[in-house]
Formats: sequence, structure tokens, C-alpha cells
Amino acid sequence: MKTNVFKIAVLTSGGDAPGMNAAIRSVVRTAVSLELDVVGIMHGYEGLLNGEFVKLTASSVANIIQRGGTILKTSRSERFKTEEGLDLAYEQLLKEGVNGLITIGGDGTFRGADQLAKRHKFQIIGVPGTIDNDMVGTDVTIGYDTAINTVMEAVDKIRDTAESHDRLFFVETMGRDAGLIALRSGIAIGAEAILMPETHTDINGLVEKLKNAKRKKSSKIILVAEGEKAGGAFEIAKKVTEKVSGYDARVTVLGHIQRGGSPSCMDRVNASRLGYEAVHAIVKRQHGVMVGIVNKEIVYTPFERATKHIQKLNVDLLSMLEVLSL
Ligand code: F6P
Repeated sequence: MKTNVFKIAVLTSGGDAPGMNAAIRSVVRTAVSLELDVVGIMHGYEGLLNGEFVKLTASSVANIIQRGGTILKTSRSERFKTEEGLDLAYEQLLKEGVNGLITIGGDGTFRGADQLAKRHKFQIIGVPGTIDNDMVGTDVTIGYDTAINTVMEAVDKIRDTAESHDRLFFVETMGRDAGLIALRSGIAIGAEAILMPETHTDINGLVEKLKNAKRKKSSKIILVAEGEKAGGAFEIAKKVTEKVSGYDARVTVLGHIQRGGSPSCMDRVNASRLGYEAVHAIVKRQHGVMVGIVNKEIVYTPFERATKHIQKLNVDLLSMLEVLSL
């Protein structure tokens, strides 16, 4: 099908996430199949400001579906957020002859995309790519599934040590504003507790739980999401161990291992689907929306809503954890 959109650009922005390459591959191959020209922009919005365009063909994205990170590289650009930055970005896109942009990233990426789309009426489609899974308008973001599996594998290893030494571990997971990584992986590793920004953390309650455990356990693991309001894992560990004795406690901050690695099957499939649908959304003249998957169906959500962090937490999962961690 020949369309009158003739050149699209794709970039990745914000934190890298496993599956971004699968999404880039999908965007490029779908565009090629529709006879659209496609260029990549290196280093996210910062690269856009610097005019870092690279021609992409079906061959440029060969053998990347299984690779973590992003071949287009990424950045967090402060310059892009300014009025001058938005104007320069628009000029660069016009100079390159681009008339549709696909941005792959998280909430910061879409806030930037929203500003550019509104200020210059530019056609932009977003693909949700962040390990945090904190977007409204999609059940999953690219990278989340791989990240929770990475956490699960890492904490399974920590559990071996915790069991061997009869220790209490506080493990910090990523998620600046959301505890969804901690929630899913915590259930999967049989955590004794999960602390996250979406729920109120009662340190005294946690202390009581540890003091009055219903049965003796040789190891205990508490997952602390990075965004937890009561503090990071070190701080929580201090607050708890000051009030309860008899625990040989340790803290592990998992950090950036959660962002790397080969994407899971689920992430590769979702990324392929979202990339494909993003190109089709451009052709259908959609603009200013993120393409997401809700109940297995493709949905479009305006950027300003996608970035609102108003996802409802499934509190039933936390009640279940309470029962299962008895
Ligand atoms: O948004 C993804 C994320 O990994 C967050 O969970 C984390 O807070 C942040 O990025 C860390 O960003 P950076 O690598 O820039 O320090």
C-alpha cells in the first residue's frame, strides 16, 4: 500500500529497556513494507537537536530482536524541554524532511513528545518502553517482563545466601515512581513483604510482623521499590533493625542490572506488535497518542493521559502476598 506519508523517524529516549531493539526493528520493517522512508535518530531528543539522523533499512535492523539496550542509543535531554529546544527539534525534523515521528520511551519521553506535538502540530506516535510499567493506556510496557524476570533470578540467588546464613535481606528494585517491578517480582520470589510508593508503609507494622512471625523461617526477603516514600532499602533496613533484634540483616540494591539483558519472549512479541501498530497509526493519521495493549487489544491514549501515573494498583495481589508469606 503506497501512502502519502513519505518519511518517518524513530528514536528511543529515557532509560533503555529490553525489547527496544525489537520495537525499532518492527518500526523499520513495517515502514519498509509500506514503502515509507525511515530514519533513526541517535541519542534520543538530544540527538534530534544535534541532527543525528541515520538511514535505516530492513538490513540495518537484522539480528537485533534478541539484543538488550537500544541500537539507536538514548539520553535524557534537558535542552529539549525548553522552548528553544522544541523549536530546534522541529527545525531539524523539517530539514530532514521527516513528517512523522515515533518515540519509544517512558513518561518523560511522552511529556516531551506531547509538548513538541502541540507546539508545532507535528505528528508523533509513542511506543511505551520502560521497565517501570508505569504508563496509563497499556497493560504492559516494553522491558517490564524482562526486568521482573531479572529481579526474580537475582533474588532467587540472594535467597540461597539468606537461607544459608539465616538472614533478613532488604532488596531494592528500580521504579522511580512506581512499585510494579517490586510487586510482580516480589510475588514470584515469595517475598515476606513488598514496600512501594503506591501504598502506605507502616514501619511499626512491619516490625510487629517480623517479631510475631507465625512460624520460624530461616530467611526473610523484603522488597523495597526505589520510589518508596519511607526511604530506600538501606534506610528502611536501619529503621527496622533498630526496633527488632535477632536479625542478621543485609541490603542489596539491584540497580541497573534490571535494565539490561536479552528481552524475554513476551517483551519481543509486545515490542514487535507495538512497533508495527505505531507505523500503522502514523499512516492512519493518528497523532499525539501512545499505542498500547489493553486486554490484548491495541488502544490509543493521548500523551497527556498516558503520563498521569494514575494506574490503579491491584491491591488483591498484596492481600494474597500476606496470606502466602505466612
Ligand atoms: O525509568 C526507568 C528507570 O530505570 C527507573 O526505574 C529509575 O528510577 C531510572 O530509570 C534511573 O535512571 P538513570 O539510569 O538515568 O539513573
